[in-house]
Amino acid sequence: MATEMALLKPISKFSSGTPVFSNSRYGKFTAVRMSSTSQPTTKTAGKKAAKTAIKETLLTPRFYTTDFDEMEALFNTEINKNLNQSEFEALLQEFKTDYNQTHFVRNKEFKEAADKIDGPLRQIFVEFLERSCTAEFSGFLLYKELGRRLKKTNPVVAEIFSLMSRDEARHAGFLNKGLSDFNLALDLGFLTKARKYTFFKPKFIFYATYLSEKIGYWRYITIYRHLKQNPEYQCYPIFKYFENWCQDENRHGDFFSALLKAQPQFLNDWKAKLWSRFFCLSVYVTMYLNDCQRTAFYEGIGLDTKEFDMHVIIETNRTTARIFPAVLDVENPEFKRRLDKMVEINEQLLAVGETEDIPLVKNLKRIPLIAALASELLATYLMPPVESGSVDFAEFEPRLVY
Ligand SMILES: [Fe+2]
Ligand SMILES: [Fe+2]
Repeated sequence: MATEMALLKPISKFSSGTPVFSNSRYGKFTAVRMSSTSQPTTKTAGKKAAKTAIKETLLTPRFYTTDFDEMEALFNTEINKNLNQSEFEALLQEFKTDYNQTHFVRNKEFKEAADKIDGPLRQIFVEFLERSCTAEFSGFLLYKELGRRLKKTNPVVAEIFSLMSRDEARHAGFLNKGLSDFNLALDLGFLTKARKYTFFKPKFIFYATYLSEKIGYWRYITIYRHLKQNPEYQCYPIFKYFENWCQDENRHGDFFSALLKAQPQFLNDWKAKLWSRFFCLSVYVTMYLNDCQRTAFYEGIGLDTKEFDMHVIIETNRTTARIFPAVLDVENPEFKRRLDKMVEINEQLLAVGETEDIPLVKNLKRIPLIAALASELLATYLMPPVESGSVDFAEFEPRLVY
């Protein structure tokens, strides 16, 4: 938590009633400037950044980079005959329509609501905004770069990436504006430079990003529906925006689904099955462990954290099964039992970190816990999987087979 908190600084101004971003794809640059201008003390930020790098954990939202040359080869229509350009053209029209162009407009309810949130919930709310903003911004950076790098090879796919980065910039900006209600701002410009980037080969980017878009969709829509039914928990207006917002994430996920279909080698062999299960496991476990450390947030909006997470995992897994060749059997009670066991071990690990012991003793105490966590992860990974929607490429016409 302190990780990203270190990047937050108090600001004094608050504006409302205007769209957070212009409708041009360049809106994203506003995001970066907006935060850096509100934080002139670069020197302090630099010092705090050092702390950030040290405190970063496996569960912190990450920034990604990839092999862009390989990406270019994958999207070269002369090399890859599976690329269904008419499908991408149709998707591009969808993105150009820009359904949410005028959706992200704030009003004075935001600040008023934020002022009423106090005590531990206030802190946890800030953390929610900050983590979500970082995750959205991470998507923005990756898509923006892909849009730039694929321009020559495949202009249609490149433009879709640029338009997706437009969406993610809006999302990140809207969340960052939310932080201003709490008199804080995330310095996105600084974050771009200071954060470590995790390298993933293109095929791993596809699996991981598909999953994160779809899980994002299910998280947002579940919170939205819950608060619609239980308006007494509607303590901050950002959730009212989730219905249209999650449609952006859904479209992003569908685009990755089309990309995966165009790369049959990532879907149709035993390795693809193993990797699919691996990415499902890491995405689900990360979310579950993260959320179980923040139950106060979910309880604050009237949700049972574990129930909420399981619902999101099951729905995401069902959606994913349409495209991934294998998924985890998340509906088997053993899966949840193992997740809960991992939560227990993770809590013990966190408790070790909080003791007064010297680092060596802490590390010694951590060894058996990490071993236990690893063995739980392995056992969950090895649970009999669900064979799922492989794609039939016989006629070069992607078709789902169940
Ligand atoms: Fe987003
Ligand atoms: Fe997205």
